[in-house]
Amino acid sequence: MNWVEEEGIRPGLRQAVDEFKRKYEGETISGNRGEVLVPRFHYYGTEMMEKAICALLAQKNLLLCGPKATGKNVLAENLAYLFGRPYWNVSFHVNVDASYLVGTDTFDGDKVVFRPGPIYQCAKYGGFGILDEINMAKNEAIAVLHATLDYRRILEVSGYDRLELHPATRFIGTMNYGYAGTRELNEALGSRFLVLQMPVIEEKQLEKLLRREYPEISKAMCRQLCAIFYELDEKAGNLEISPRAVDLRGLLDAVSVMKLGLSPLEAMDMGITNKVFDSTERSIIHDVIAARIPKSWN
Ligand SMILES: Nc1ncnc2c1ncn2[C@@H]1O[C@H](COP(=O)(O)OP(=O)(O)O)[C@@H](O)[C@H]1O
Ligand SMILES: [Mg+2]
Repeated sequence: MNWVEEEGIRPGLRQAVDEFKRKYEGETISGNRGEVLVPRFHYYGTEMMEKAICALLAQKNLLLCGPKATGKNVLAENLAYLFGRPYWNVSFHVNVDASYLVGTDTFDGDKVVFRPGPIYQCAKYGGFGILDEINMAKNEAIAVLHATLDYRRILEVSGYDRLELHPATRFIGTMNYGYAGTRELNEALGSRFLVLQMPVIEEKQLEKLLRREYPEISKAMCRQLCAIFYELDEKAGNLEISPRAVDLRGLLDAVSVMKLGLSPLEAMDMGITNKVFDSTERSIIHDVIAARIPKSWN
């Protein structure tokens, strides 16, 4: 796990995480959902990573708050991997209800069987439950998690015995705010988490991320892409443009299509500029990009 070393996580914490991992690894988990997945992206941000590790070592639930593309899901998945646990992802955007979360009785053609939901599986197998966009959850759905998420660490399974959480089970919520349709987190739920406000990735780290994902990118291009990103971030901070354009996901997507031969300027317009629907804003954004990426670049 050399990126943890690269990131400079305190040796004491690393050791504690390794102990946790060793303590619970090798416990057999039935079914193919029990694997520990290697994350697609590394999370860059030592401070957030260390704070998150502390929360989880203390057997607390963690809530990652922040605008889009600040690496909330990437961090959650990195943590599951670091602690050596399988994870179950529940997106609260869909019409999630208690029976989906916990499980339901179904008829298998022969008899009634219990089909476990993702929270049940996390609880039983010591998984990490990633509760994605948890602020969008319906209250009825969340009520069932109250005893799961506090010191009681139990899951009521209606019609069955209550389940005690496996000692390795943890829950990591993510929540986004700042765009239409986002909601505040209900207070009873919020009090059950330790909360991190996720910062926008630091410039040095963004450069590292770009170079790691796209090793073929030139130094000059990498520097300009970073500069564009922070310039747009600043303009959004000054309310000159909407925060829509400050989209790291869009930036990375743009680089992916550049690789296929689109000109950098066209690619950046696709990834970033065109996400904004106001034409005045769009031209401001386009100008920021065009000032740093000459038309002649390919
Ligand atoms: N600090 C960071 N470290 C690594 N990747 C990051 C970071 N911030 C953003 N990203 C990148 O942004 C994209 C979106 O990340 P994601 O975790 O899905 O964001 P969120 O859940 O906050 O919307 C990914 O490609 C990810 O690699
Ligand atoms: Mg997310």
